[in-house]
Amino acid sequence: MELGTTTSAASRRASDCVLVGVYADGDLGVGAADIDQSSKGVLKKLVKDGDLNGKVGSSLLLTAVAGVRAKRVLIVGLGKSNNLTISKFRRAISTAAKLIKSSKIADVVSYLNLESVGETDAYYAARYTVETIGCELYRFTETKSGRPSRGPALKEICIAVASRGDAAKALRGAEHGQAIVGGMSLARDLGNLPPNICTPAYLGRTAQKLGRQYKSVTTKVLGEAEIKRLGMHSFLSVTSGTELPAKLIVMQYKGAGKDKPIVLVGKGITFDAGGISLKPGPGMDEMKFDMCGAASVIGTMAVVAKLKLPVNLTVVVPTCENLPSGTATRPGDIIESMAGKTIEVLNTDAEGRLILCDALTYSRRFKPAVILDVATLTGACVIALGHHHTAVMSRSDALARDIMAAGVAADDRAWQLPIDGEYEQQLKSNFADFANIGGREGGAITAASFLSKFTSDMNWAHLDIAGTAWKSGSAKGSTGRPVPMLSEIVLRHCHATA
Ligand code: BES
Ligand code: MN
Ligand code: ZN
Repeated sequence: MELGTTTSAASRRASDCVLVGVYADGDLGVGAADIDQSSKGVLKKLVKDGDLNGKVGSSLLLTAVAGVRAKRVLIVGLGKSNNLTISKFRRAISTAAKLIKSSKIADVVSYLNLESVGETDAYYAARYTVETIGCELYRFTETKSGRPSRGPALKEICIAVASRGDAAKALRGAEHGQAIVGGMSLARDLGNLPPNICTPAYLGRTAQKLGRQYKSVTTKVLGEAEIKRLGMHSFLSVTSGTELPAKLIVMQYKGAGKDKPIVLVGKGITFDAGGISLKPGPGMDEMKFDMCGAASVIGTMAVVAKLKLPVNLTVVVPTCENLPSGTATRPGDIIESMAGKTIEVLNTDAEGRLILCDALTYSRRFKPAVILDVATLTGACVIALGHHHTAVMSRSDALARDIMAAGVAADDRAWQLPIDGEYEQQLKSNFADFANIGGREGGAITAASFLSKFTSDMNWAHLDIAGTAWKSGSAKGSTGRPVPMLSEIVLRHCHATA
């Protein structure tokens, strides 16, 4: 996609399509007002006649408007004028993108901006615009037979800005948005691929491909012999029921010399049948998404490498399957983690924490400035927060707050759950140092408490994305979340959002 900015008035800009907004109370956005003037009142008349109501989600496509250079004028509703939010802004752009997707429009110039939303500026408006259009154009066709139909015609997005001063900001925002879309699309592809294709080895090859694509990224993929040598018996206990070999993927991006890295650890269970604690049949196919944590951290690596950010980033992905078999771990088995702590496996379906605890221990060698693990960890998280917020849990309220703020800025939100010491009591075991489950109550929190035992002295937070990483039902598929939030965290770390 080509990206650009313009200071031309909407009516003067030659293009396939100019995108402008009207408000529900009849107010016209900047671009719309200009179109209205040069067309001698076409838009005001449409409003008056009730053909343009300005509701979010509504749209109208006009062609050959007199006095307007562009071939088409696409008008979208922005809701009440004093009440525009980032989410409404993005819904309006999605509406436009759906129309553009099925049209022959090859270039669009957007006059939608966030003027009326407090703090946001040209950078974020451009970034949301490109990200939203990019996400709407995403298609997953790899596993359909036949030749895929040709993709959308759109080749160029141009962002209209009020001043030359805003142009540089907007271009930067557009480029960041494009990189984020790229990272999200990679994460979505990995999530959507079936578990017989997206195996641990496939994830490893994908990471290696990024290493070849970007000189600044080095990728190592460790096999089971090395994983064993490292003493990661908790991780290995999860893979013992499957024929497919487990992998430990380690990617390092160096953009800031000797600075301590941000470390992202992603859960990479390519299929979670539950193991001997077998899951019920209905909906089990969705457990192919149990590697979305891994997909999101690899996707974020792609964003950072693409933007050549001045930061050091390390990605660690433990990846395997969780299947039942004669060699699988039994409920009651006691295993020794890499950190030396013993774990009583009371439920083999609580496997995410078992692979993550060893990956977190392994990650200590990188001396992280901050370490985040990202995982589709618990059904309890979906019950607690539903599908809109990722859960964030940390011993550091300051870190949790920073993450939530990044989520708001990226419009990929997170909400904090507590992990006070009391919850740890639920993990008591009569036979080992602790158990891998803590009962139904506060299930998302006890999972985090388990991980916190392995992250002492680290600036650590846990992100449970079980509710946000994919959608069920007719729109079943991977969302690419939380790539935008993770990207924002990294961008903020190196002060690159201005
Ligand atoms: N991958 C699942 C979590 C999950 C379940 C995500 C449903 C999205 C929807 C995880 O490995 C799991 O099975 N967790 C168990 C933990 C329990 C046994 C303590 C769960 O949440 O039921
Ligand atoms: Mn499980
Ligand atoms: Zn799982």
